[in-house]
Amino acid sequence: MSHTIPDITLNDGNTIPQLGFGVYQIEPRDTVEAVSKALEVGYRHIDTAEMYGNEAEVGQTIRASGLDRGAVFVTSKLNNGFHRPDDARRAFESTLAALKTDYIDLFLIHWPLPTRYDGDFVSTWRTLEEFQRDGRARSIGVSNFQVAHLERLAAEADMVPAVNQIEVHPYFGNQEVRAYGRAHNILTEAWSPIAQGKVLRDPTVVDVAEQVGRTPAQVVLRWHVQRGDIVFPKSTTPERIEENFGVFDFELDDVVMERITELDRGEAGRQGPNPDTFDYIPA
Ligand SMILES: NC(=O)c1ccc[n+]([C@@H]2O[C@H](COP(=O)([O-])OP(=O)(O)OC[C@H]3O[C@@H](n4cnc5c(N)ncnc54)[C@H](OP(=O)(O)O)[C@@H]3O)[C@@H](O)[C@H]2O)c1
Repeated sequence: MSHTIPDITLNDGNTIPQLGFGVYQIEPRDTVEAVSKALEVGYRHIDTAEMYGNEAEVGQTIRASGLDRGAVFVTSKLNNGFHRPDDARRAFESTLAALKTDYIDLFLIHWPLPTRYDGDFVSTWRTLEEFQRDGRARSIGVSNFQVAHLERLAAEADMVPAVNQIEVHPYFGNQEVRAYGRAHNILTEAWSPIAQGKVLRDPTVVDVAEQVGRTPAQVVLRWHVQRGDIVFPKSTTPERIEENFGVFDFELDDVVMERITELDRGEAGRQGPNPDTFDYIPA
């Protein structure tokens, strides 16, 4: 199995490994084992968030791995309760403290929350710009931003987000937001890339997997990779952590790519919340 994961260059010149490991819904007590396994397999990009409650365990595992801090790309995200600039500054410091690191590779606004904070996510974004300017965030980006939200940042802020991390999988192509990203040099990161497992029993996916001699998860992850998006599948199952890493030694032809793309159900395929209305603030 090829272990060469391509780096993609962001609009600020930094690079990010195209395949990473997501830790959403991994309990803190299970995080050390899962991330250790991922690092052992060869993953060098971990996607966490304050909301996931496992930043400390992610940092602890990276330190214990013996790898240089610079060898592992770490993303975290600003939680929904901290959009006001002073709260964002404190939350960012807490993230660095939990990870026990003096910089983070990529820091994101987790959700735009357009119905909260008087609709002001621009001052939140301007606060992330400070973190990049002072070097504590190498790159900054957003998550779950819709086209209108990105247009507003383009009009009112200085920096263009390096990435937009959004829900994308064969049942939800999220084409409009991806197209905006392509046109404006904002890289798309595809969250829930296998729709939390729901696309793996799809007859087309199963058929393609048989045709190319790969597993359904590998086929779907390969589809993302060939579209140029960044992915970080989550698993706490050691065999799956290995399986999901094996997507750079085969290719899908155009016909197969199109068959998977055609599974798009539009808005009906969305599994997670709609960012236009999502307003959850953790207690
Ligand atoms: N920014 C955001 O708002 C946002 C939202 C959601 C997710 N994310 C990020 O995206 C990452 C990935 O998304 P996700 O965790 O929602 O879902 P996902 O990666 O699409 O799917 C994870 C689920 O699929 C199962 N699975 C993994 N590999 C498999 C395989 N090879 N065969 C069969 N089943 C497999 C896992 O089970 P086991 O663990 O039991 O193996 C788990 O139940 C998250 O961890 C997080 O970092 C971000």
